[in-house]
Amino acid sequence: MAARGLFAVLDLIYGRPRSLSKFKVLEVVARVPYQAWENVAYVAVTHRYSRPAFARRIFDRVHESRGQQDNEQWHLLIMEELVERAGKREGFVKFRVLPQALAMAYYWLSWLLYVIRPRWSYALNADFEDHAEHEYARFVAEHPELEDEPYDGLFADDYGHFASVADLLRQIGHDERTHKLESLARMDEPRFS
Ligand SMILES: [Fe+2]
Ligand SMILES: [Fe+2]
Repeated sequence: MAARGLFAVLDLIYGRPRSLSKFKVLEVVARVPYQAWENVAYVAVTHRYSRPAFARRIFDRVHESRGQQDNEQWHLLIMEELVERAGKREGFVKFRVLPQALAMAYYWLSWLLYVIRPRWSYALNADFEDHAEHEYARFVAEHPELEDEPYDGLFADDYGHFASVADLLRQIGHDERTHKLESLARMDEPRFS
């Protein structure tokens, strides 16, 4: 329900059609569950370091969340770059203020669910990532011209070199799939917080 509510709000504010600007909003929001999980896991390490082997396993989670949020960070920067390259003009409130407000609300929802029952937070994120994966796939299918648009952007050395923007977006969609599978894999694990 929370995921559906979020997608409905995004459609209402940014319209149903997929666009690079809308993906950018999605990426601002996408990072925050990983930040919330990192935060909770780090506090749990502080509470559990008297059991070093257990604390070490929690720290592995911290590490995993950092990797995921860094990956989302590249997505966001690449989207910003693509929007700028396309010369699109974006309103300050709609594309700067509102995404950050949405991200803040989503951060605290993810954090709260994770503290109450981690499974709920992972399930919400899996739905979010599933949505992102399919939205990227549909966008690439809707824009065959992206197959001929080369990509050798600012973040190619960090994120990867791709023959076309279509390949770049397919890789981003694949990352979302990986994030989804990672969340699903964590759902049945015992809690540590
Ligand atoms: Fe992403
Ligand atoms: Fe993702």
